[in-house]
Amino acid sequence: MAKYYKYKTPADVVADSERLGCPIQVSDNFDVLYQPIQIGHLEAKSRLGIQPMEGCDGTADGFPDELTYRRYQRFGAGGASLIWGEATAIGPEARMNPRQLMINDKTASALETMLGGCRDAHKEAFGSDDGLVIGLQLTHSGRFSFEKPLVATRDQVLDPRTIDKSTGRPIDDSYPVLTDDDLKRIEDQYVTAAKLAESIGVGFVDIKQCHRYLLSELLAAKNRPGEYGGSLENRTRLVRNVVKRIREECPSLVIGTRMNGYDGIPYQGVGDDFVGAPCPHELPLQTAFGTDPNDHLKEDLTEPLEVAKLLKEWGVSMINISNGNPYANPHIVRPAEFPPTDGYHAPEHPLIGVARHFRIASQIQAAVPDIPVVGSGYSWLQDFAMHAAAANVEQGKISIVGMGRATLSQPEFAKQLKEEGKLKRKTVCRTFSYCTNLMRTKDHPLGQYPTGCPPFDKEVYDPLWKEAKAKLEEKQKPASE
Ligand SMILES: Cc1cc2nc3c(=O)[nH]c(=O)nc-3n(C[C@H](O)[C@H](O)[C@H](O)COP(=O)(O)O)c2cc1C
Ligand code: SF4
Repeated sequence: MAKYYKYKTPADVVADSERLGCPIQVSDNFDVLYQPIQIGHLEAKSRLGIQPMEGCDGTADGFPDELTYRRYQRFGAGGASLIWGEATAIGPEARMNPRQLMINDKTASALETMLGGCRDAHKEAFGSDDGLVIGLQLTHSGRFSFEKPLVATRDQVLDPRTIDKSTGRPIDDSYPVLTDDDLKRIEDQYVTAAKLAESIGVGFVDIKQCHRYLLSELLAAKNRPGEYGGSLENRTRLVRNVVKRIREECPSLVIGTRMNGYDGIPYQGVGDDFVGAPCPHELPLQTAFGTDPNDHLKEDLTEPLEVAKLLKEWGVSMINISNGNPYANPHIVRPAEFPPTDGYHAPEHPLIGVARHFRIASQIQAAVPDIPVVGSGYSWLQDFAMHAAAANVEQGKISIVGMGRATLSQPEFAKQLKEEGKLKRKTVCRTFSYCTNLMRTKDHPLGQYPTGCPPFDKEVYDPLWKEAKAKLEEKQKPASE
């Protein structure tokens, strides 16, 4: 039974947000969501977007597979105008899991087919693909690379939680940090990946700087010596160099970035009820971007606002704002009714997390009024996500609404809203977290379960979840059994 989400009307959401001291607004002017918007030289015909949502369903060598093609076709047919292709690794060592997509000479044409399938499905459903913008998120997983952690800096709280598979132990101060030369090579990899993306007709690339993957960790690396750490100028060197080079070498490519506005700090479950609590940490915090160094619960957007302005100056045409770290503080990234299997119970009401997303994205949008900012964290609002979305767009707090989990359960949300004036209740995401659970289940012949929505995309994902769950339960049995 839902513990937090008990709303019958949009007004109930507003009242609860006021009670919790994190006011959000709603509107039923959905027309505002169907206004076009310019993204660099591209135009999206509505304000409804699909966030990057990894399916973990590629092949071992980084090609899309059957379920990947299916997902993008469903996204295309669903009517959203901005489709933000998922995390795609710029090299094998940059992959977050063994089924993550990769972009290289071999996989490029398959990625072209995947994104082409998305476009064709949109054309078939709507008669044209005018106003459909499709991009690809280029990622280096850094500390969370599955082969071995590739860390940008020492982190007092994350290092003890980062396991080196070769020893089975957490990393410590003797574990190597990526050198400046390593980072220069990574810049080259990003540019090569962007050129390939341009060659297969991708509309925009996202130079990923969120969720504490490599470039996100770098933004916070105040304690890193050398050319890529310390000052904000150094911490933004990699992204600056990559953006400038892509502008010169891939003139037709629009450049976007998904960036954390606020990192916060790692949490862990404590006590019998396993409610999340901040991990022990020393003050002032040295490696948390957008976070008050003396109080991790408070955002300090001084640097994120400055970086947003700089990114625009260097040639970024769209910024997608997110927060947190999906492994260390998932309640910040995706406010949820139920925690994932590797998570803890929510340490705050999920509406507080939703409001944090809205508040931070709106401040970034105010700093860069000339380029669109995409907002995150809407799915927990279920049936009333579109009411909050309409209010945020109407008030200019963001330009585009990015829907995450809600699109796995209901990829046709944009079409549904336009045709019916509301979302179809039956398949609205309830933030049960089964999709995250599947993503966290590695006990599969390919080293990774594919993910989707078991409750509402039943035919495909329910059998997969049953299989994964049985394996999890088997593992959790006491050894004597
Ligand atoms: C299964 C799954 C896959 C995800 N994959 C990505 C990804 O590839 N890149 C990314 O930036 N975020 C990824 N996210 C985060 C989402 O894009 C989104 O920020 C998050 O779910 C919160 O938005 P929501 O409340 O609408 O779900 C993923 C989330 C889930 C649950
Ligand atoms: S499994 Fe489905 S309902 Fe649950 S959080 Fe994921 S998308 Fe939403």
